[in-house]
Amino acid sequence: MPVPLIAVLNGPNLNMLGLREPEIYGIQTLDDLEALCAEAAEELGLAIDFRQTNGEGELITWVQECRGRAAGIIINPAGYSHTSIALMDSLHAVDLPVIEVHLSNIHQREAFRHHSYVSQAARGVICGLGFTGYRLALQAIAEIVEQEA
Ligand code: DQA
Repeated sequence: MPVPLIAVLNGPNLNMLGLREPEIYGIQTLDDLEALCAEAAEELGLAIDFRQTNGEGELITWVQECRGRAAGIIINPAGYSHTSIALMDSLHAVDLPVIEVHLSNIHQREAFRHHSYVSQAARGVICGLGFTGYRLALQAIAEIVEQEA
């Protein structure tokens, strides 16, 4: 059996982790997050393609490229969660299990963060658990992929 490939896609400003509002997002960096995901994926028997972009179009292109290539998508759409119908449409179009992750608890924050278009296309949503949320998302997607193989 080939190792399932999971795309771990990160949206705008997540390249600033460690510098950006550390009281909300912590002091660890995107490289630290990638290392955590790589370790968790190895333990779970998954391969990951971990990426970050600030561009909405690029994020949508990456989602589209997952069709026929990846077994599932973990996405932190960052600010585009709350604005992008196009990103939501792309996630519907690929017909793959999607888990949405946010580091912070978006429901405890400003009202404009309470709604995510991406949630419409997500099997599940994890928020407020920091980097642990990505580890849990990888665990969940490993189970989904195995059950649906
Ligand atoms: C975020 C929450 C979003 O509201 C925000 O725009 C981000 C990060 C999070 O991981 O908590 O950039 O997705």
